[in-house]
Amino acid sequence: MYKIAVIPGDGTGPEVIREGLKVLDAVSAAEGFTIDYTHYDLGGERYLRTGEVLPDSVLEELRRFDAIYLGAIGHPGVKPGILEKGLLLRLRFELDLYINLRPVKLYPGVETPLKDKGPEEIDFVVVRENTEGQYAGAGGILRKGTPHEIAIQESVCTRMGVERCLRYAFEYTRARNKKKKLTLCGKTNVLTYVFDLWERVFHELGAAEYADIARDYAHVDATVMWMVKNPEWFDVIVTENMFGDIITDLGAMIQGGMGIAAGGNINPGGVSMFEPIGGSAPKYTGQNVVNPLAAIGAAAMMLQTLGEQKSAARIENAVMQVCATRLKSMAAGKMGYTTSQVGDMVAESV
Ligand code: IPM
Ligand code: MN
Repeated sequence: MYKIAVIPGDGTGPEVIREGLKVLDAVSAAEGFTIDYTHYDLGGERYLRTGEVLPDSVLEELRRFDAIYLGAIGHPGVKPGILEKGLLLRLRFELDLYINLRPVKLYPGVETPLKDKGPEEIDFVVVRENTEGQYAGAGGILRKGTPHEIAIQESVCTRMGVERCLRYAFEYTRARNKKKKLTLCGKTNVLTYVFDLWERVFHELGAAEYADIARDYAHVDATVMWMVKNPEWFDVIVTENMFGDIITDLGAMIQGGMGIAAGGNINPGGVSMFEPIGGSAPKYTGQNVVNPLAAIGAAAMMLQTLGEQKSAARIENAVMQVCATRLKSMAAGKMGYTTSQVGDMVAESV
């Protein structure tokens, strides 16, 4: 039995999580394990009602689950930064979810905006460092609102943080066993402190322990160019937090959009959190029109991390089948089915 904390969150989060749970129920019944869910009311609505974002007691409880399943965070009535920093980023930091794993995989039958590229060409994974860089929050504003004000936002990269992320990426590339190529995405020509560290550790670790993995490097600006022009060059990309944030939105677009892009915030030795990477999509809230496949894909990633490989594969195959044979589009309102119908189809196929 697995104990899963469920945080449906804001906007369309609850609608897509509902479908993810439907699919998890189908697969756990078929494979003979049980999942015990505990729902948490966190997000913009609770904040507006009570002023609470993430009470310490809730954080302590969350540490005791096998995994966390998150819908979306972000509310039009709440100033940007409050929920993101107070909930999503706080969970990443406090639970030390130091890997953000974001597969970019185009399924057959899914439309990509890239001309002449298909599932053969678009199949790579981004390993994003998830606890350091500019997200660490170092810096500040001095003399705010005066002509002499100064704003500083620094990037914090530690040897430990860089090394554990690179190690995860090398191990992941090895286990994935495809091209066995790991690309470090950086900016060694300008960010000469941070990427000096990344590059040194990348080659040291690679030479000492991962001789079977080809090491490749691309500047971040070139990376986005190649993602559009030659996505087939990539197998696994590893990068720091902010670059990873940016390139994975592009990744989501080339794999068919936010409706299908899933990700995991992973602590390999602890409790990890899985989410569709798109936001709360407030304009579609309550309409039963958004695509639940990203949330369903996140559920599959959760099972994979829990060691239920067979169940994860069953979900992924079901998603692929529904994409290939049923959905007209991945976009909200254009699927040809409602959110709950898509969930039903995947659950049946599982
Ligand atoms: C993401 C999001 C978050 C990030 C925001 C909501 C803080 O864009 O998960 O990619 O920047 O990491
Ligand atoms: Mn992002």
